[in-house]
Amino acid sequence: MKTLRLDRLLAASTELTRSEVHRLLRAGEVCLGGKPVSDPAAPAVWGDAVTVRGESVCTAQHVYYMLNKPAGVVSATEGKDGPTVVDLVPPALRRRGLFPAGRLDKDTVGFCLITDDGDFAHRLLAPRRHVPKTYLATVDGDLDYPAAAAAFEQGLVLGDGTVLLSAALERTSTARTYRVTVHEGRYHQVKRMFAALGVHVVALERIAIGAVPLDPLLERGELRPLTAEELRLLGQNDE
Ligand code: URA
Repeated sequence: MKTLRLDRLLAASTELTRSEVHRLLRAGEVCLGGKPVSDPAAPAVWGDAVTVRGESVCTAQHVYYMLNKPAGVVSATEGKDGPTVVDLVPPALRRRGLFPAGRLDKDTVGFCLITDDGDFAHRLLAPRRHVPKTYLATVDGDLDYPAAAAAFEQGLVLGDGTVLLSAALERTSTARTYRVTVHEGRYHQVKRMFAALGVHVVALERIAIGAVPLDPLLERGELRPLTAEELRLLGQNDE
């Protein structure tokens, strides 16, 4: 496996700057494989067992989290407009370069994927891959159901003339709440789809990305790492 310098491994795996890493190394606060190391150029590999001041550091090359996004949080890395999804990552798990793979509106809740792997996010969001995203949408009026589902399936035309790919609309056991599956990610897409049918979305939750459902055990605002199986389902190893 390719080695890299310990200072680079630590700086990439944390929010510490290189100079903070050097200070900690000089102070004997860093252990590699259980032994104190002070040389910034000591060879290391992604995934090595590293501790800083006795706390273990996640040194995986990339991290992938499923966040159950609450309302009022912006899916961006910096917020002029309130807290961001990255602010919800606990300090011990924070590292440089974390970002949400795809946008949810500030008032949309549910599955938000946070990673530092740009290639993975790029593949997941590539329009040609059409990775489905599934939502529960509650609307403020009655739909002519079979007709609305047929219009979604045919490919809706939005108010601005945009022609959408075929999407699925299913009723749920709750009146005026529908399960919607779309294969593209346009701005305010689900809200605009319902608006094209004359109703407004009053609540929106993303409940799945591809074949990976939002973990029902995650409370709003909580996150956990994606499992290896979930990453496989999302094509983490695809070219
Ligand atoms: N569609 C929307 O309208 N909003 C979202 O946040 C996601 C999909």
